[in-house]
Amino acid sequence: MSQQGGSETPERSGAIDGHPIFAAAYDRLSGFGEGFLDEHRAFLTRDLDGSVLDLGAGTGDLFPYLASVAGENPDPSVHAIEPDLHMYRRAERTAEKEGLDVDLRLARAESLPHADDTFDVVIASVVLCTIADPDRALREVGRVLRPGGELRFLEHVRAEGYLGRAQDLLTPLWKIPAAGCHLDRDTRTTLIESPLETTEIERISAPPPATPMLRGTAVERR
Ligand SMILES: C[S@@+](CC[C@H](N)C(=O)[O-])C[C@H]1O[C@@H](n2cnc3c(N)ncnc32)[C@H](O)[C@@H]1O
Repeated sequence: MSQQGGSETPERSGAIDGHPIFAAAYDRLSGFGEGFLDEHRAFLTRDLDGSVLDLGAGTGDLFPYLASVAGENPDPSVHAIEPDLHMYRRAERTAEKEGLDVDLRLARAESLPHADDTFDVVIASVVLCTIADPDRALREVGRVLRPGGELRFLEHVRAEGYLGRAQDLLTPLWKIPAAGCHLDRDTRTTLIESPLETTEIERISAPPPATPMLRGTAVERR
């Protein structure tokens, strides 16, 4: 696996305050939803070709999917960013375990360390709930996507009605163990009002409290 600067210690300028306990618990927590998320992770990584960026890779839960696609394709180029050093270290280990050659950088979605027009596909898997400035992150996604490239997303959003009100109340508490995750973000509006044009959007019910979810694709506006 290649990593930033090719050194043992990644450049820390893109780091956020780390969450060691959340990082340690994350794989176990996502293990509970494994059956549920499998299908959606497969959706995010279907028919990949060219250059792919996993935005906020966490502990590398998408890496097994990316590794199997990379196995089918002779020339995929897999990139990922993750700003939490504890998650980043676990993602490194996942990449090694999966035999995935990934250019993993310690960086934030709001200031991607990549040139304009670099990627054919950017994948946002359960990150817009946590990123401090999702509007800025989506502008960055637009910048690094090649013309004709697409964003694929799977995100939980604030529910309507009493569940949404419960999510408003729960979010300040939830954010502490869940490393800054907001249950009550209106990510649908963030996506629709971003510089990208949403071309496909599907509502999915998910286990509470992070429900419903949206999955879909977006491309650069013409
Ligand atoms: C719920 S986890 C999702 C991880 C992974 N994408 C997945 O599908 O399992 C959210 C991730 O977003 C990362 N994150 C937080 N702030 C971020 C930022 N500003 N830019 C990119 N990623 C960020 C967190 O460190 C965490 O790893």
